[in-house]
Amino acid sequence: MTIKTILRMGDPRLIEPSQEVSDAPSLELNQLIEDMLDTMAANNGAGLAAPQIGVLKKLVVFGMKDETSENERYPDTEHVPLTILINPEIKPIGEDIIESWEGCLSIPGMRGVVPRYAKIHYKGLDPKGNIIEREVEGFHSIVVQHECDHLDGILYPMRMRDMSYFGFEEELSEPEPDQ
Ligand code: NI
Repeated sequence: MTIKTILRMGDPRLIEPSQEVSDAPSLELNQLIEDMLDTMAANNGAGLAAPQIGVLKKLVVFGMKDETSENERYPDTEHVPLTILINPEIKPIGEDIIESWEGCLSIPGMRGVVPRYAKIHYKGLDPKGNIIEREVEGFHSIVVQHECDHLDGILYPMRMRDMSYFGFEEELSEPEPDQ
């Protein structure tokens, strides 16, 4: 088990586009996935993208292990299955936009209100090379869009419409938005 250092905003690797993964499945990739899962769990993250640990590959992990496990940073959100997604592709379904507070392990201690597609279709590969394909909405949809943005070098403040809804978690009086 290896908990990796998470790069923080300002590190140039976080705004680089990532490369397609071409070696799935492989031992090297499995090691990277394990490190990402360990690092996400150790930081109570809802998700983590490979570039956040300095690996510029199209790979994200997100979700929670089971229905009963609680995520301390997002205690009130619906369950998202623990997912390892390689070379993900997202397509919005409809034009509905939802705005909600997001945080990022690369921007510790801060939160911001970010607009996202309410409903998306996404697909990619699991570590064995099987296709994962889902239609999701709500928190699940937001997490996937946030993590996949990392693969294009986009951090959530770059998506924000109103910087008055950006601040330190400890100072924000109303951390829950009216969704
Ligand atoms: Ni993030």
